[in-house]
Amino acid sequence: MPVLYDEKNKIFNVYTKNFSLVFGIFADKLPILIHCGKRIKNTYNIHKMLDYKLKGGMAFAARNKEFNNEISLETVSALYPTYGNTDVRMPAISIMHNNGTMCSNFYYKSHKITDGKENLEILPSVYCEEGDNVQTLTLTLYDEPSALTLTLSYSAFYDYDIITQNVKLENAGERVKIDRIMSAAVDLPDKDFDFVHLYGNWARERQIQRTPLFNGGMTVDSKRGSSSAHHNPFFALARKNTDEFLGEVFGFSLLYSGNFTAGVEVDSIDNTRAFIGINPFNFGWTLEKGESFIAPEGVMCYSCEGFSKMSDNFQKIARQRICRGKYRDIERPVLLNNWEATYFNFNEEKLIDIAKKAKAAGVELFVLDDGWFGKRDDDKTSLGDWFVDKAKLPNGIDGLAKKINDMGLKFGLWFEPEAISPVSELYKKHPDWCLHIKGRVQNESRNEYLLDLSRDEVCDYIIEFMSDILSSANIEYIKWDMNRNMTDIGNEVLESGRQCEIAHRYMLGLYRVLDTLNKKFPNVLFEGCSGGGGRFDLGMLQYFPQIWTSDDSDAVERLYIQHGTSMLYPTSAMGAHVSAVPNHQVQRTTPIDMRGHVAMCGQFGYELDLNKLSDEEFETVKEQIKLYKKISHITHKGTMYRLLSPFEGNYTAWEFLSEDKDEIVLMIANIIKRGGRVAATRVLLKGLDENANYTVENTGEVYGGDFLMNIGFTRKPKKDFESELLIIKKVK
Ligand code: GLA
Repeated sequence: MPVLYDEKNKIFNVYTKNFSLVFGIFADKLPILIHCGKRIKNTYNIHKMLDYKLKGGMAFAARNKEFNNEISLETVSALYPTYGNTDVRMPAISIMHNNGTMCSNFYYKSHKITDGKENLEILPSVYCEEGDNVQTLTLTLYDEPSALTLTLSYSAFYDYDIITQNVKLENAGERVKIDRIMSAAVDLPDKDFDFVHLYGNWARERQIQRTPLFNGGMTVDSKRGSSSAHHNPFFALARKNTDEFLGEVFGFSLLYSGNFTAGVEVDSIDNTRAFIGINPFNFGWTLEKGESFIAPEGVMCYSCEGFSKMSDNFQKIARQRICRGKYRDIERPVLLNNWEATYFNFNEEKLIDIAKKAKAAGVELFVLDDGWFGKRDDDKTSLGDWFVDKAKLPNGIDGLAKKINDMGLKFGLWFEPEAISPVSELYKKHPDWCLHIKGRVQNESRNEYLLDLSRDEVCDYIIEFMSDILSSANIEYIKWDMNRNMTDIGNEVLESGRQCEIAHRYMLGLYRVLDTLNKKFPNVLFEGCSGGGGRFDLGMLQYFPQIWTSDDSDAVERLYIQHGTSMLYPTSAMGAHVSAVPNHQVQRTTPIDMRGHVAMCGQFGYELDLNKLSDEEFETVKEQIKLYKKISHITHKGTMYRLLSPFEGNYTAWEFLSEDKDEIVLMIANIIKRGGRVAATRVLLKGLDENANYTVENTGEVYGGDFLMNIGFTRKPKKDFESELLIIKKVK
């Protein structure tokens, strides 16, 4: 029963295994947050905190007349803070009323507690299944002068230590404009935290950064129209002593793939206000009488066992209750993608040649990437012209798919459905279908514009052409790419006052398209991509159980990228391929073993022409595929422990412990060998049974669980780029 209500004192405790959000309703009106953190089991007398928290504000602070001037919201933790009603800090919500003013006071009206959780209709959301220990508290608040109803829903996922938050605003009064609406917001009573987030850019996504908080604001965001490679919609607040396995940490994320803001405001008395939601920059949403607005879903995670536990909770909920469909749980095919093998320069014969060799190696799915349509011999044309280039593929997609299928391989295809080339038939026909501002120069990125998915007819067109192609051939996989950020956001359809709705309307349109196609083609495996990992977020995972993690396929770069990505995303979602050397992005030559070992810790595949490998390397590839298929139930469904971080030293070590805790996969890789004598690195395992013995399958050696966790393996590099993948089994 993860929601408790003390009716006498009007205290709610929304809790999970280790996490509590306790709040009360002061004077039957004001929802005040009392505690966000470690689980509180006994809320006896906790209501006294309301008085303690509320009374006695700062000198000169404004006081609430409605509460006999006894309190000031300036110094308390509101449950979902609003602006101007004696609290003048960063609000969770601000609304411009019809008279142009910005103050709102949302007071308690009613609540209900229900089992389970409802899905959002128009946006991705965490769902629950029969038997899940999940409850939802729905709190209805009301701002009388504006007749606005604010509904806050908190769903506690007991076993995951995750509380999701939903926010809905309904207007029964005059027209208003939403200026800011956060998806999750909490106040923490001190500032002794480090801010941890994931930043980067193309080919260097999700690098971990950790910075102490200061009094003032600290945010990361995206104004790029997609969640982006530059900042991920995530941050964590970690205690100073928190490491991978010890200490308290709060994680915040969002099921949203567009512009976001995520951060904190630390006030002068060290209250830390944390928030995440749609970026208010270039956003504004007009609500007419009778209309409502649903914010993207916020996700809060709590761990008192360091980052690994936080990540485990995020990864598991993402894999089990955000990803959907047939491919959620089943082992997905090992694929080979021709992009780095051929780029645009291919014909049917060449593809068949590559596919034959792939089949001989044990690959299960052949993916044809960019360049198969229109006149696309480079990235300058044809996006939008989704008809096959017969010069390259005389037998069409259907003919090629048949040949690939006849070899015993599944066939998959690349698309970039949201983009349009200025040089394309589609652009000639519908020049107004892309995002643009009349009277201004329209900017290209990778020689393309973005279709305006805020428009229904454009979304319908995408659904239609995608459905036609998917129905015309045996296509069992789609790589859905999106290779630019939004600029020149505007259209000639919406009235001027609503232009700042376009970026969000685009996301709503995109989610509708993806949802429709997912449902229409349940047997197709959809993989997301955005110039590599430029749209790797929890929202996308609802439609894509796997996402291409980065265009950087170098094994060393991938150590950083996959390590950072694992902060909240599951390994089963991380597309990871072995590519050629010297690597095309960084020119580094790493051994085939290291490329294989690192890629095997994600969703495994190849991105090269296997015909170009030596016989010995080809044999290694065959072994890699066999090994991957043997271990992927552990690396994808087990618990991941980041034992050593590439951000902190020469060695990276990732442990994966199977669900039954009997099997372990341990990946260890070093980057360089330094000269002279260097200190040895210890790799200490986690989560084992200290009373059991374990056999290392690779060597036959047996060790005690206590040995492996407290003495561990000792490593010193003998050369650059060494790696190993150990399979360790509990002796029964
Ligand atoms: C993006 C993707 C690549 C590839 C190319 C094709 O960069 O990330 O994997 O599909 O587009 O143009």
